[in-house]
Amino acid sequence: MADSAPVGVFDSGVGGLSVLREIRALLPNESLIYLADCGHVPYGEKSPEYIRERCRAIAEFLLSQGCKTLVLACNTATAAAAGDLRERYPQLPILAMEPAVKPAAAATRSGVVGVLATTGTLKSARFAALLDRFASDVKVVTQPCPGLVERIEAGDLSGPLVRDLLQGFLRPLLAEGCDTLILGCTHYPFLKPLLGELLPPGVTLIDTGAAVARHLQRSLISRGLDAAGPARRTQFWTSGPSESLERVLPVLWGCREPVHFFAG
Ligand code: DGL
Repeated sequence: MADSAPVGVFDSGVGGLSVLREIRALLPNESLIYLADCGHVPYGEKSPEYIRERCRAIAEFLLSQGCKTLVLACNTATAAAAGDLRERYPQLPILAMEPAVKPAAAATRSGVVGVLATTGTLKSARFAALLDRFASDVKVVTQPCPGLVERIEAGDLSGPLVRDLLQGFLRPLLAEGCDTLILGCTHYPFLKPLLGELLPPGVTLIDTGAAVARHLQRSLISRGLDAAGPARRTQFWTSGPSESLERVLPVLWGCREPVHFFAG
């Protein structure tokens, strides 16, 4: 496997771009392929079987593009499919992500941690195991956020609809006294400016994009697969209409990019 081979990063939609931007910033020499499964978003309300099928199709495609490593930039896909993908491709490094319960439990002063995530993530055995392992000393209040991902997919990060939804989701967490809030879905970091307006001062936000980028860096270096040489390209694919992703990339990625259609 050549160190110049691309890293494949994927999500149900645009959420994984919040991880991709951290990867791009930390690893400017890597070629990156980003696949947004926009034809099947949101994953949060779908069955684990459905998500596993989608992840298999996407992994096959990214491998056909010669990817040296995969990053599941999606908490919901990790909960449903990380184990399955790792069994199928035992030789391939597959990095995944889950809500940052451990750092949040260490950070809280009120002893109450809130988790915003999808229904699928919060219902998963993997999330229950995380709580058992790291949250025995704190109170964890979970909040599924149906409808929020669709707003972010549309590039709506501050309009009245997303504002109302988010306010409704935050209310019960704040009523419980949460001072540390886990963004347990890769779409939600795009709402940090709005969260800054809606949350009282002193609430700490925790997300894992930067940690995943550092993990990827360590993983590539330890295998001798980190790319040397000049800055490389980022290529974008979507299973939805290419124009829709092209339209929101300037908002979520910071510039216009051509987008290819993935028919899988
Ligand atoms: N971005 C995803 C996550 O991290 C899933 C959003 C969705 O498709 O529901 O969980």
